[in-house]
Amino acid sequence: MFGKTIRFILEENKVIFNFENGQGWIEIINPWIINVFSPLKYDNHYSRAIEGVSAEKCNFEVNETDKFIEIKTEQVSVRVSDNFYVDFYDKNGEPICLDYKGDREPFVRRGNVSIAEAEGHRVETNADSHKIEVVKKMFGDENFYGFGDKTGHLNKRNYSYEMWNTDDPSPHVESYKSLYKSIPFFVTLNKGKAFGIFFDNTFKTYFDMGKENSDYYYFGAEDGNLDYYFIAGPDFKDVIGRYTYLTGKTPMPQLWTLGYHQCRWSYAPEGRLKEVAKAFRDNDIPCDALYLDIDYMDGFRVFTWDKERFPNPKETLTKLREEGFKVVTIIDPGVKKDKGYSIYEEGLKNNYFATDKDGVPYVNAVWPGDSLYPDFSEARVREWWSDNQKIMMEDGVAGIWNDMNEPASFNGPLPDDVQFGNDGRPTDHREVHNVYGHLMSKSSYEGIKKHTEKRPFVITRACYAGTQKYSTVWTGDNQSLWEHLRMSVPMLLNLGLSGLSFAGTDVGGFGFDCTGELLSRWIQVGCFSPLFRNHSSIHTRDQEPWAFDKQTLDINKKYIKLRYKLLPYLYDLMWQGERTGLPVMRPLVLHYSQDEQTYNINDEFLFGENILVAPVVEQGKSFKAVYLPEGEWIDFWTGQTHKGKDTILKNAPLDTCPIYIKAGSIIPSYPEQKYIGEKVIDELTLNIYPGKSEYIHYEDDGESFDYKKGKYNLYKFTMENNKNITIGLNFLNEGYSKKYKNFRFIINNVKARQICFNGESINFNISNGSTEFVLKAEEGKLNII
Ligand code: GLC
Repeated sequence: MFGKTIRFILEENKVIFNFENGQGWIEIINPWIINVFSPLKYDNHYSRAIEGVSAEKCNFEVNETDKFIEIKTEQVSVRVSDNFYVDFYDKNGEPICLDYKGDREPFVRRGNVSIAEAEGHRVETNADSHKIEVVKKMFGDENFYGFGDKTGHLNKRNYSYEMWNTDDPSPHVESYKSLYKSIPFFVTLNKGKAFGIFFDNTFKTYFDMGKENSDYYYFGAEDGNLDYYFIAGPDFKDVIGRYTYLTGKTPMPQLWTLGYHQCRWSYAPEGRLKEVAKAFRDNDIPCDALYLDIDYMDGFRVFTWDKERFPNPKETLTKLREEGFKVVTIIDPGVKKDKGYSIYEEGLKNNYFATDKDGVPYVNAVWPGDSLYPDFSEARVREWWSDNQKIMMEDGVAGIWNDMNEPASFNGPLPDDVQFGNDGRPTDHREVHNVYGHLMSKSSYEGIKKHTEKRPFVITRACYAGTQKYSTVWTGDNQSLWEHLRMSVPMLLNLGLSGLSFAGTDVGGFGFDCTGELLSRWIQVGCFSPLFRNHSSIHTRDQEPWAFDKQTLDINKKYIKLRYKLLPYLYDLMWQGERTGLPVMRPLVLHYSQDEQTYNINDEFLFGENILVAPVVEQGKSFKAVYLPEGEWIDFWTGQTHKGKDTILKNAPLDTCPIYIKAGSIIPSYPEQKYIGEKVIDELTLNIYPGKSEYIHYEDDGESFDYKKGKYNLYKFTMENNKNITIGLNFLNEGYSKKYKNFRFIINNVKARQICFNGESINFNISNGSTEFVLKAEEGKLNII
């Protein structure tokens, strides 16, 4: 397409090429991140994902040979040849990622499509070529991860996907090409070496990962610029760190958002909401958040209350808050077309809505019937929407749930030619569709931040790359099916690898009727999902923890309580995530990428680096084959130690989720609480699993942005386990005034004979083969003999 290279010039970090049929450039963002660009639509980047990142000053060389022009950073070399072929090599000259120079050649399909379609089959056809297309050579051992919320398995090799935010509530199955989110990013792992590609294009994009032909994989787009980032590894974790350097990291959430959330379509009228709140306390089940779905509104008009169902929302929400419950309300984008309704009137008056090609506000239908779509691609509309958050915040709402923002529409899809202002570059729906939810949640985030000055809690269904900076996500309308529980694990893992660490599924399943057994198993995955929310659809059977039998209630209680104990560990993971971009839920392959056994594990995951969770995701099953990677792993329930690089069989009756702790772990925990903040926590428990390790624990006020000004504490623990166990305690930062008074140590599987702290001997107890003692929270050195 581009033809022969005519000349190239160097401009700061860019090498700009003129080809016979167009222009392209290579830009060095830093030694690991290289941008490949051609201005096919706009003359420069127009990114909704990358904000405030620009090319860094760094050393690189440009050399011309007969066949190519080579651009070499300290980490990678890029060879550019005719046709704007771009090949990446590592610093030793080994090929990492090469353009495929032949023509696409789909595997053979035979027969008549229409005969199959006559019976209603959805028939796959070979994809046409796309306006923009980059075809890469397959070496043969590639595994692919990422892509956001795609269905199916963890490893995306041999499958194809599309990025087009889609609300399709029929049961999500493996053959779905797209769901609610568009994250055009993937990691390739080839023999233990990883690199990433981020294709920053918001039009409909296509990814074929060796399905069409196993000699190549490709990505393409319907329109827009050719604009992708090659992200070098070779370490898998570094690729995620670099991708989130570009698109942003999940910021620290308020601590309560990591508690248990209960949702339902719908808790209304308010008596039902209060009843649910009371049932949590009566049943002694911790809970921090209750949700109001669409029925709290007056005729589904956003930013209003149904005055009959919720006569005094402020008072109700204040009372609930006193009992430890935060209330999150749904806000959809669709604004009811309704004379006299202030949001509609304001929107109309100020031209805040997307229009048809003649400039008339575009109408489709969602819950309220005829509705209009705010044009979130315009800053002035985002500001208006931001300000509207105040209406909810003033009534005591603690967080905003943005749904239906693909955007969904009940009268057929939005036509391609619906018009959007696009911050000064007017465009149509084709370009805005995939970022509509992203821009809506950004605007919600900014509004909540402005009006509360706390870390905003926004939860969104649709998103694009980079939404992690503004919102948590859930995986939309799953169903109460075992297959959906099974699929939730790889889906959450791939979301995490795609930057969206703060994610969860509707625990128990949204559509269809749940069973006690399914909820019992789902809660065991939910316990380790950063967003831990049970939600179900209108008219399905009740699905709260107590809605089934005593056994289900007890199992729910056990895992929700375990979650509350693990909160400081989870909060530490969020803190690490804000620095490193690493997700909370991680596939084993992220940490053990040299071990091929981990490449396709769909039903186990790491919760941080130290806890391995192997949930049972099949009905009626009471055991589980668990693969433990290298090292030693301690059974969380029995204390038994297992050597890794082996598969073990674990008995897992319904109340048991197999959990293993890595030897050499320090896991902080809190006492049980009914809700976050119920107790003043001045004693931190440290669960020690002896081995060599270092652990940093983070503490702050759990809600404000003061941590950005240094108001936080960091406690560093350094453990050695030679003849004796020694643990060093150091305070790395002491910016937050409410510090722990004590540390309670539990040294698992160790019967100590003597313990000294800074040379002084300490009293201790031994129970169940472990040693327990309390220390004043001071710096020093602990010796356990
Ligand atoms: C959509 C959402 C679901 C919500 C329902 C009603 O289906 O995905 O979570 O309960 O709309 O608002």
